[in-house]
Amino acid sequence: MLDMRVSRRAALMGAGAVAAWIATPARALLHAAGRVTVPTFVDPLIRRMTLEEKAGQLSLMASAWGGGIAASLNPASAGSNFQQQVEEARQGQLTGVFNGNGATMARILQTAAARESRLKIPLIFAADIIHGHRTIFPVPLAEVASFEPDLARRTAAAAAFEASGSGIDWTFSPMVDVARDQRWGRGVEGGGEDPLLGSLFAAARVRGFQGEDLKSTEHLLACIKHFAAYGAAESGLDYNVVDVSDRRLREVYLPTYKAGFDAGALSGMASFNEINGVPSTGNHWLQTDLLRGEWGFQGFVVSDYTGDEEMIAAGYAKDGRDAARLAFLAGVDMSMQSGLYRKYLPDLVRSGAVPQAKLDQSVRRVLALKAMLGLFDDPFRRIDEKREAARSMLPATRALAREAGRKAIVMLKNEGDLLPLPRSGKRIALIGPFASGAHDLVGPWVVYGDDAKAIDLATGIRSALANPASLIVAPGSGVEQPLRGGIEQAVAAARQADVVILAIGEDSGMSGEAQSRTEIIVPPPQQELAEAVASTGKPMVVVLKHGRALALEGAVAGAQAILATWFLGTETGNATADVLFGAYSPSGRLPASFPLRSGQEPYYYAHKPTGRPNPPGELQPYKAHFRGIPNAALYPFGHGLTYGKIEYSGFKQSARALPMTGAIEVSATISNRGSRAAEEVVQLYIHDRVASVTRPVRELKAFRKVALAPGQSEVVRFTLRSNDLAFIGRDNRLRAEPGTFDVWIAPSAESDGVRGSFDLTA
Ligand code: NOJ
Repeated sequence: MLDMRVSRRAALMGAGAVAAWIATPARALLHAAGRVTVPTFVDPLIRRMTLEEKAGQLSLMASAWGGGIAASLNPASAGSNFQQQVEEARQGQLTGVFNGNGATMARILQTAAARESRLKIPLIFAADIIHGHRTIFPVPLAEVASFEPDLARRTAAAAAFEASGSGIDWTFSPMVDVARDQRWGRGVEGGGEDPLLGSLFAAARVRGFQGEDLKSTEHLLACIKHFAAYGAAESGLDYNVVDVSDRRLREVYLPTYKAGFDAGALSGMASFNEINGVPSTGNHWLQTDLLRGEWGFQGFVVSDYTGDEEMIAAGYAKDGRDAARLAFLAGVDMSMQSGLYRKYLPDLVRSGAVPQAKLDQSVRRVLALKAMLGLFDDPFRRIDEKREAARSMLPATRALAREAGRKAIVMLKNEGDLLPLPRSGKRIALIGPFASGAHDLVGPWVVYGDDAKAIDLATGIRSALANPASLIVAPGSGVEQPLRGGIEQAVAAARQADVVILAIGEDSGMSGEAQSRTEIIVPPPQQELAEAVASTGKPMVVVLKHGRALALEGAVAGAQAILATWFLGTETGNATADVLFGAYSPSGRLPASFPLRSGQEPYYYAHKPTGRPNPPGELQPYKAHFRGIPNAALYPFGHGLTYGKIEYSGFKQSARALPMTGAIEVSATISNRGSRAAEEVVQLYIHDRVASVTRPVRELKAFRKVALAPGQSEVVRFTLRSNDLAFIGRDNRLRAEPGTFDVWIAPSAESDGVRGSFDLTA
């Protein structure tokens, strides 16, 4: 097991990283999933229910309130109107609704269910609380760039506090799909390309949402999604098939879900994709044998939207009835939005196609969770109009959004120490479609957040400047369309300025669901703008807006300074200004590699060497690389600069050999030779030189964020045990094999840092 001993300061900085060794994928296998307690009244209640009422408890629908805000975030489907929905609740045909709006709506529906229906079973209210409720935090991928899982725990807890104040019991979050192909748009909702980092954030988010007690009116039930391997969609095309070996599934794609369930998440969502020919929604091995059998999951599984019905188009189910049967028998307890369960389950049970006991079991799980959420004690416990307003966008929550925002920013490049910029004495031209305005601030997957309540870049920068009038703003271009006269205006603005900040990239609609891109580049009109502005010769800082890693080219890649700023949410402008003007030294690290070219995708740092790796140096013929470019990233996973001058030296190891049951300590001295304080994310990677299954060129095994004052050095120590070196063998089981291992303590996955090697001995 991986262990770490660090100095007191490092320990203070690394609260999140302490979790690193607790939740390594290997260790996660030893944990048990969260427990469900079934109160004694549940079974007698089930005995009183009709088959229709049971199917109703397994049917979740998008809220029809106010025209159905849910429909705007999902494909339109013929939903009922709100009055019809109230009647369905009264008739016991509904277990709950999702993405509705507010306590007022919830009170009306809950009254119909818990006061006026025959059995008075309360509804559950769900929502996609992905990165905040009213106060919007950075998109999940951005938050992972903090390499600080405890930050994600805190923002999830703050989101739960606001959302549970508006009548919401259950969030469809965290999304934990490992994403290694940046063409896929949904990587923005997840934990990046690495299973260890993703697992730590999955677990932290579950803890933040759920807290200690699900009955608390400040917490939400979490939902691990999308189970499973949704991020492995072929060619990065959303909804596409997944064909993956069992070994890779267990080693790369499954650990993040396991970590989320082990952290106590008591609901899960099936994924849209198939795995090796079988849709996840109809996959008994996945939803039952693995999830419940092997992992001991006790909560309930919901389909993703109309995922059950979609098995018809996929060619796996004959019709709606068949789809309901296949999904239900596979282990999907609850159907979202298709209505297939309430339409077909009663008759499937009557005809003997679905065992009654299995139906009862799913109903039991759902009722038990409603009880654990305190809904039987008081169905209105989270529905309180006054509390809803009192909890919305509090200063402390906004302050947390600003902290999360600046910690999510990754400084990719800073030639000649262009950054931080001075607060006075320079004229600044802020150019680009994301320079100003109430748009693209909260980012994708926001149901309740509001760009109009967020701080844009121009506002954040003006409030950081001694003289706000020294900022000139010009849009220069649209996002995907040129702006008439935009380039001329932008060039004129640049000429008047001492330095240019170029705010370019993707808008909110370019990542997220169904937003796969063939080329992950800055859209051409903005690239043209960058070229024109760069030709003025003014120093240029590129501030990227993006929901994925991008392939940077030309004047964008060539700018003196580049900040990856993602979608930072409510405090976008302030958080970015904190970094631009040096109130905060950037500490974010890439959770996904920026490739040299789009065509390298899927590019991820933990790739295999192949039989023909190109040796360091010049590209050689007949080696594994694309024409003209190395098999490497422009900015790899883990990369990120600070305002300090960080040096790695003094690699030490406690021994040359690590016995199977022993431990080895490796350490390095991390120094800040600069004149500014900085936080460094120190990363530990290993490589297994020879094994019975080929191993990646590097694998992240631990990391720690350390704060270093100017001139300060810290010795950072890590302890490795054989479990940390284990991998999924040919028999699909975890195994550690004797042999030689390389180890790096480094500032990124593709930098040298300092290194050594040791032998794992039998
Ligand atoms: C479809 C998405 O895939 C899922 O993530 C989301 O939770 C549901 N729609 C409900 O909005």
